[in-house]
Order: sequence, then C-alpha cells, then structure tokens
Amino acid sequence: MYCFCFIIMFLALNVLKNRYGDLYGPDNVVLSGTHTHSGPGGYFQYTIYMISSRGFIKPSFNAIVNGILESIATAHENMVKGRVFINKGLVENTQINRSPLSYLNNPESERLRYTSNTDKEMVLLKMVADNGQEIGMLSWFAIHPVSMNNTNLHTSSDNIGYAAYLFEEEKNKGYLTGKGPYVAGFASSNLGDVSPNIQGPHCINTGDSCENLNNYCPIGGTKMCIAKGPGKDMLESTQIIGRNIYLKAKELYSTAFEEINGPIHSAHQWVDMSNITVQLNATHTGKTCKPALGYSFAAGTMDGPGMFNFTQGMIEGNSFWDAVRDAVLTRPSKETEECHKPKPILIPTGELSKPYPWHPNIIDIQIITVGSLAILALPGEFSYVLSFFIYLYICKEFESHGKTEMNVVLSGLCNIYTHYIATYEEYQIQRYEGASTLFGPHTLSAYIQLYRGLAKAIAEGTARDLPNLPEPPILNVTDLTFLPIIRDAKPLDRNYGDVLQDVQPKYRMGEVAEVRFVGANPRNSATNMTNFTFLTVEKYDNTSNHWKVMYNDASWDTRFTWQKDIWGRSTSIVQWHISNNTEPGTYRIQYFGHSKELLRPIRSFSGSSLQFEVSG
Ligand SMILES: *[C@@H]1O[C@H](CO)[C@@H](O)[C@H](O)[C@H]1NC(C)=O
Ligand SMILES: *[C@@H]1O[C@H](CO)[C@@H](O)[C@H](O)[C@H]1NC(C)=O
Ligand SMILES: *[C@@H]1O[C@H](CO)[C@@H](O)[C@H](O)[C@H]1NC(C)=O
Ligand SMILES: *[C@@H]1O[C@H](CO)[C@@H](O)[C@H](O)[C@H]1NC(C)=O
Ligand SMILES: *[C@@H]1O[C@H](CO)[C@@H](O)[C@H](O)[C@H]1NC(C)=O
Ligand SMILES: *[C@@H]1O[C@H](CO)[C@@H](O)[C@H](O)[C@H]1NC(C)=O
Ligand SMILES: *[C@@H]1O[C@H](CO)[C@@H](O)[C@H](O)[C@H]1NC(C)=O
Ligand SMILES: *[C@@H]1O[C@H](CO)[C@@H](O)[C@H](O)[C@H]1NC(C)=O
Ligand SMILES: *[C@@H]1O[C@H](CO)[C@@H](O)[C@H](O)[C@H]1NC(C)=O
Repeated sequence: MYCFCFIIMFLALNVLKNRYGDLYGPDNVVLSGTHTHSGPGGYFQYTIYMISSRGFIKPSFNAIVNGILESIATAHENMVKGRVFINKGLVENTQINRSPLSYLNNPESERLRYTSNTDKEMVLLKMVADNGQEIGMLSWFAIHPVSMNNTNLHTSSDNIGYAAYLFEEEKNKGYLTGKGPYVAGFASSNLGDVSPNIQGPHCINTGDSCENLNNYCPIGGTKMCIAKGPGKDMLESTQIIGRNIYLKAKELYSTAFEEINGPIHSAHQWVDMSNITVQLNATHTGKTCKPALGYSFAAGTMDGPGMFNFTQGMIEGNSFWDAVRDAVLTRPSKETEECHKPKPILIPTGELSKPYPWHPNIIDIQIITVGSLAILALPGEFSYVLSFFIYLYICKEFESHGKTEMNVVLSGLCNIYTHYIATYEEYQIQRYEGASTLFGPHTLSAYIQLYRGLAKAIAEGTARDLPNLPEPPILNVTDLTFLPIIRDAKPLDRNYGDVLQDVQPKYRMGEVAEVRFVGANPRNSATNMTNFTFLTVEKYDNTSNHWKVMYNDASWDTRFTWQKDIWGRSTSIVQWHISNNTEPGTYRIQYFGHSKELLRPIRSFSGSSLQFEVSG
C-alpha cells in the first residue's frame, strides 16, 4: 500500500478567497500533484489515503497548504506581462509500458494508431516577460516518478523533480536550490501505465524476467517481481531518467518559437462520478459504479509490489479473502458487485464511511484554455490509449465549433485523486491499473462524455452556466494519527545540536563530509513551517569575514538522516557529497531542529561542525 502520495487541498481555495476575493476559484486554479514514493503522507481526507501514513498528519497538511498558498501569493505579487511559446518533441529511452498485456487487449484498430505502447511526447511552454527576461517553463510528460523504490526512506524528489532541479540550477545560478526567481515545472500527464524502470520486471532472487500477466515469480511470487534500471542503484536511475527528461526539455525550450495567443477560458464542474449514465451507442447505455478496488490492487506493480498472495490479473476473488473482507470491512452490495464486473472487489470503498468516507464520489473535472492551448485537468492516472481517446474527442469537439488546431494537453493527478483510469478493454484484464479503476468499466466513456461537455461549453461561451453539484464535503479531519510524537530525549550531559562525531579537517572533491549531532524528531520542525532547511553547508568568505550559505537540504549534494533509539534519543546525520565543481575553501556544516520534551513547549536549536578545508 504505497501509492497514496498525492496532494489535494480544499483549504487553499478558501484562504485565496480571503486574500484576493473572487479572483481565484475552482474554475481557474488547477492543483497538479505528483506521484512519488518519497514524500510525506497523511494529508488527504479520505480514509484509504490515510492507511499507509497511519493517520492524518496535521503538521504535514499545514506545511503543504501553506507552501501552496505562499507559492500562489509569490506568483501573484510578481505578475508581469509576457509571452508564452509552445513546443513538442519525443523523449526516447526513458519509459516503458508496465502493463503491456493490458495495452495489447485494446482493439487492433486502435493500436494501429500508435508507433509505441507509451506516449513519448513532451509538451513544453516557455514564458518570457515583455522586457525579455525568461521567467519560467512548464512541461508535461508521461512517466511515473518512481525511479526511487520503496526502500528509500529519505524525503526526496524523483526523476521529474531531478529534471526540474537541473533546469532551475542552470537558470538560477548563484541562488540556493529552490530560492531563485526562475521556475521550471515538470508536470504529470497520462502516466497510468508508464514506468521509468526501463530494464523491466525481473525476479530479484533469480534474475529471470517476470514480464507475464501476473508479474509473478516462480519462487517468491509477486513480491520478488521488481523493475529497476537503468542505473546501478535507484539514485543513479533517478538521475539518468531525470537528466534525459531535462535534456529534451532544454532542447524544446531553446527552440520554442510558436506563440500562444488569445483569451483565457476555464470550465470546471463537480460531478458525482459514481452515478453517471453513459450513452455507449445508439441503443445501449452504461453506468458508472460506487468506488471499489479490485483484488489486483493489493498486488501492486513492478514499481512497488503489494502484499500477501495477490497477483495482477485476478478476475476471480476467493472465499478466504472475501471472508476477511466481509469480517473486517463490509460485504459489497450485489449492485456494486455486478456493476464492477469482471473486477472481483477486495475493498468496497464506496460503501465504507468510517471513520470518514474511504473514497470520494464528488470529482473535479476541469479544462483551461489559453488561446489555442487546452489544458485538461484529469483527476487521476490515465493510461495511454485512454488519454488518446479523450484527446481525440476533445479536439473533435473544439473543431466542430470552428476551433481547429487546438493544442490539447493532458494534465494528470489534478485537483483530486481517483487512482487509475484504464480503457474498457484494459479493465477486462484486471491488472493493477484496471483493478484501481474506481468507478467501473465505463469510467473512460463517462470521462469522455464529461470532458466533451466542458469543451463544448468553452467553445460556446457557456462555461459559467454549467450545472455544478454541491461542493465536495470538507470532512474536518483533525489529528488522527497512530504515529504521535511522544517526546524527545537526549543524553544527560548533552544538548540538542551537540556534535557527536565531527568532520575531518580536510576533504577532497568526490569525498563525503559527514557530521553526527544530538538530534530531535524532524516532525517537530514541520509544524506548518515553510522556508526551513534542516542543514546548511557554509563557506567562509575571507574578504567579508562571513559564512555564506552554499547548499541547503534541497540540494542533491546533501543528505539529512534521522535515527532514533528505543529510549527516544536520536542522532541526526548530515552528509555533504562534495561534487567536483565545488569551490575550494574553508567550510562548515550546520544542523537546525526543534525539540519537544515532556511538558515543555517546542524549542528550536542548532549545531555546527568544526570548519574544514576542501581542495580539488
Ligand atoms: C531498491 O533499490 C536498491 C538500489 O538502490 C536495491 O538494492 C533494492 O533491492 C531495491 N529494492 C526494491 C524492493 O526494489
Ligand atoms: C443518479 O443520477 C440520477 C440522474 O442523473 C438521479 O435521478 C439520481 O437521484 C442519482 N442517484 C443518486 C443515488 O444520487
Ligand atoms: C452497443 O453496445 C452494446 C454494449 O457494448 C453492444 O452489445 C451492441 O452490440 C452495440 N450496438 C451497436 C449497434 O454497436
Ligand atoms: C491466497 O491465500 C489464501 C489463504 O492461504 C488461499 O485461500 C488462496 O487460495 C490464495 N490465493 C491465491 C491466488 O493464491
Ligand atoms: C466541517 O466544518 C464546517 C465549518 O465548521 C461545517 O460547515 C461543515 O458542515 C463540517 N463538515 C462536516 C462533514 O462535518
Ligand atoms: C502555525 O501554527 C501555529 C501553532 O499551531 C499557529 O499559531 C500559527 O498561526 C501557524 N502559522 C501559520 C502560517 O499557519
Ligand atoms: C527564507 O529564509 C531566508 C533565510 O532565513 C530568508 O533570507 C528569506 O527572506 C526567507 N524567504 C521567505 C520568502 O520568507
Ligand atoms: C580563510 O579563513 C579561515 C577562517 O578564518 C582560515 O582558516 C583560512 O586559512 C583562510 N584562508 C585563506 C586562504 O586565507
Ligand atoms: C570527480 O573527479 C574524480 C577525479 O577526477 C573522478 O574520478 C570522478 O569520476 C568525478 N566524479 C564525477 C561525479 O564526475
């Protein structure tokens, strides 16, 4: 259970309303999340998303909301007139389809449209102010940012985060990571069936391929079937895939000459996705279902296998797990069971409401157009073929209203998370993506119908009149955590931030400087704080006699690790991987934290290493 790492923020819009009146609202704000296995969890109000984080973690939630708001406010306050250019190109050798057998189940007539079983196209926007200053870029590309696997315990960016890092480092020379004025955004698109682990699935015990319907290994089963590559470890893989994406973006950016012109329109609706009637053809209709997860959901994927003896491709349940389900959760209604067929239901989330509803029914659908550019904000992870359908129908819809040559961009993981969306044919196979298609086999048809409605409304200028259901509920989830911070402790003769093991006096580039401090729980520092770093690497400037911060915890050259013993005493380890382009000189490393002792308020503290020399 590892895939619930997504961002959804209702509160953000309310605060924006207080600050800017009606300028920003659900129509014209898109919150686009990322899929990562290396981020904090516990910020999503529906129960299923709280399971892997063992509860709702209010400090994480507040920090994320405040960070989003600060970003919007910063953007608002720095708004300037400018121009937008668009460019597109293919990114090669960077992704594979992780459910190729699902893809093959699509009709041949459909598959003949494509030259590959993944979408390789990157779409990029370049933004330049009227005074010529380059201010940012935004790109979309289909890839799961899961080069980092489940064993990584550091908060970290993944492949597209690394691409953004490289792009911003280049444009923001002289600034600390994340602090410069230039913004490079690498957003998700139709990533549903796309993996970055391009060596494909292999049994980690025998080395044999497990590219089969069930991603199953003869010895050890699903758990052993894992995909990796192309690097020697996950860090290197993240960097290789990230660099490929970055290099293509850089190329497209430098050759982006087609200008986007014209007015901005937006259309947004909340819809009850569990109750949409779809016109399949002249004689037949289909219906979406209450949300439910199938057996193969629990199998996970080759990018992160699940548990027990579940495999992908299960189109039949069994009496053992059905009995467990009925005893622990609830028995799905006959109607829901029928509706989802051939998916055997493992978790009937739409019929579970304690302590909070397990999945959303009310879903955001949204399109924003800027001149000839149409951005479809999709509420989940769409597979390739499916996105192409939507793409096609939306283009047709715009064309039928005289808007030819629209650039349609599919932006995944927007506004709310509804897991995966597979085509009707892919759904029949019930691999992970099909088992995680929440609203049943006709989910795709329903989305096509709904997004066509939005496109039509924009084209006809009637977006403001679209019917909108009551807003999705705000469940008022408060602190609900099975991972409370009890308290910090330290050795009697020490203070928080004291050095336990110091740096060496001299390092050469390519080496790792490391220092260990008396630490405290890092979550104490997360309490709704933004613009905070756990560490700095500082260089002594002999002309001004000052220490200058060279690196923070967002840099790829630094690592912050926290370890706790059974008495609650902890050690914070700060590493600096000294890269080959470091300026030689005198350096020191600092650590910043917050301690929380029994019956005392949270206290901030810091610690510093001795100074040391770095030479080439
Ligand atoms: C994760 O990647 C590391 C290499 O960075 C590897 O040693 C490990 O086996 C991988 N584990 C899983 C579960 O994928
Ligand atoms: C489902 O939608 C239909 C028509 O759109 C409506 O009449 C009905 O009340 C809805 N059912 C539920 C349970 O909301
Ligand atoms: C309409 O769709 C139904 C269900 O998929 C199918 O059985 C039927 O043959 C279709 N009819 C036509 C005319 O395509
Ligand atoms: C999984 O394990 C249960 C309990 O041991 C067993 O009843 C069931 O048949 C197994 N299912 C599969 C698909 O192996
Ligand atoms: C959550 O709190 C708000 C404001 O206090 C209230 O209007 C709303 O009804 C509450 N929602 C639920 C589901 O209790
Ligand atoms: C952060 O939390 C503290 C205490 O919980 C509160 O007083 C403060 O207003 C919060 N700050 C922000 C920016 O939300
Ligand atoms: C972030 O922190 C740095 C160092 O403490 C400070 O110089 C800077 O002004 C802060 N930025 C914001 C946006 O608060
Ligand atoms: C710079 O200052 C540091 C700290 O005072 C000192 O240790 C170092 O020798 C000086 N380096 C040079 C090149 O003067
Ligand atoms: C850094 O330089 C050393 C020595 O020249 C070289 O062996 C190493 O590969 C370089 N590391 C990187 C990451 O370029």
